[in-house]
Amino acid sequence: MALLEMAGVSKAFPGVLALDSVSFSVDRGEIRALMGENGAGKSTLIKVLTGVYASGSGTVLLDGVSIAPRSPAHAQELGVSTVYQEVNLVPNLSVAENVCLGYEPRTFGKINWRKVNERARRAMSRLNIDIDVTRSLTDFSTAVQQLVAIARAVDREAKVLVLDEPTSSLDKIEVERLFTLMRKLRGDGMAIVFVTHFLEQVYSVADSVTVLRNGVKVGDWAVTELPRQKLVAQMLGRDLDEVPHVDHREAIGTDVLVTVESLGRKNAMEPISFDVRRGETLGLSGLLGSGRTETMKMLSGANPADSGVISVSGIGTRGSRLRPRSPRDSIRLGIGLCPEDRKSEGVCPGLSVSENLLLVLQARRGWLRVIRKKQADKIVSEQIERLRITTPDTRRPIENLSGGNQQKVLLCRWLVAEPTLLLLDEPTRGIDVGNKLEIRKLITDLAKKGMSFVFSSAELEEVVNTCDRVVVLRDRRKVGELKGAEVTEQNVMARIAEGEA
Ligand SMILES: Nc1ncnc2c1ncn2[C@@H]1O[C@H](COP(=O)(O)OP(=O)(O)OP(=O)(O)O)[C@@H](O)[C@H]1O
Ligand SMILES: [Mg+2]
Repeated sequence: MALLEMAGVSKAFPGVLALDSVSFSVDRGEIRALMGENGAGKSTLIKVLTGVYASGSGTVLLDGVSIAPRSPAHAQELGVSTVYQEVNLVPNLSVAENVCLGYEPRTFGKINWRKVNERARRAMSRLNIDIDVTRSLTDFSTAVQQLVAIARAVDREAKVLVLDEPTSSLDKIEVERLFTLMRKLRGDGMAIVFVTHFLEQVYSVADSVTVLRNGVKVGDWAVTELPRQKLVAQMLGRDLDEVPHVDHREAIGTDVLVTVESLGRKNAMEPISFDVRRGETLGLSGLLGSGRTETMKMLSGANPADSGVISVSGIGTRGSRLRPRSPRDSIRLGIGLCPEDRKSEGVCPGLSVSENLLLVLQARRGWLRVIRKKQADKIVSEQIERLRITTPDTRRPIENLSGGNQQKVLLCRWLVAEPTLLLLDEPTRGIDVGNKLEIRKLITDLAKKGMSFVFSSAELEEVVNTCDRVVVLRDRRKVGELKGAEVTEQNVMARIAEGEA
């Protein structure tokens, strides 16, 4: 019998049967990938397993004993340790406090801070991350925060480790470090459940795969028995369309839309210069911490630059050349940012799907000119269809959507506001393979119609196949720019590696 056995698990939400009598198992020393489109039920299965939701029906056996976790803490006590998709940490506490929260080493009943820090340092170093663990979590990037959540889960003595999209903001190097750790834990006999949308990761680390589609289990396979194409077909219930390819036009439009001149921020980003043409998708590529998000945030005014200036052509002479000091400044120039961290900077919890989607459009029109209901409904239903957002009702709170579907709403939020330049920081984070291609097609189509984009992704393949030109960053400065036929994965990698201008 497998170490963990779930049988006949169902879970219904108003209007959705998220899990329909699903069975799922994972054994000692096994890494099982849990796969499926956005909204297929992966996170729900995990939340039932770990006591976030009471299941509607079904049984969970751990080591042959029936368990019914009442909460994640209870699941933890029973031996199931979890990293949730929406990282659940406390921003204002230090890294060390987050790693040890609820399990702080104590001496005579008092928290022993030296030990807390020591233990956190050790947990992080298992992932090869060397940071000052006494600093506040908010000082670090989304990726580091994700690694802290992983370190926290791994630090617990667990029989089962559950990882829901742990790699969504990590780059290749960190992913490899995590995999090394996962393989070691597997060797120690741990059962690992791994949710990811990256197919190559499944083939590199998992032993077996379970696929869900629309809340129903499609099947279980050993990785070696399931070729990529078949895996995709099982997830989508159809074959995947051809991958769109950018024909890296030698002559990209000469019509310069935005000129960025020496935009910099002390201790964060060396002054950087580049331009964006009309109808172009400009890529930002670089490893984690290379300055991609920093560049986006300077352009969007979210983290204002302290040197340099940007000019936008074609919107009159006044105000078209400035250094944005706030998002409002940038929005006035027609520049919008779809941020990488959807939980803390993107989604407005408590507001409905439709309110979230219309937020920017409404803000641009001014709050006094409320969008009429009929028009709003039309816009929302068009977008829902265009990006295949799965939701039973757009008046429901956005938190009820699956992670990938929330991400799609954030993207639509800006698309409907039709900015001149849209900054997309990891726009396909958490999006499944099929929808990823749809989004890529959408960006390419909009660019053809004259909209401009700056596109950043940790996935090199995606940058190379979406962008006309690519600016390469390394150690918080620009180290190269590739255009036309030069835009290849090899060239980008080479620039990152050599780091010369
Ligand atoms: N708290 C909730 N309230 C209402 N509906 C929910 C809730 N949580 C999930 N759902 C619905 O259940 C279905 C499954 O969602 P789930 O989050 O499990 O998908 P997922 O496979 O993890 O997708 P993703 O890849 O986007 O993370 C979706 O239709 C979602 O809208
Ligand atoms: Mg999910």
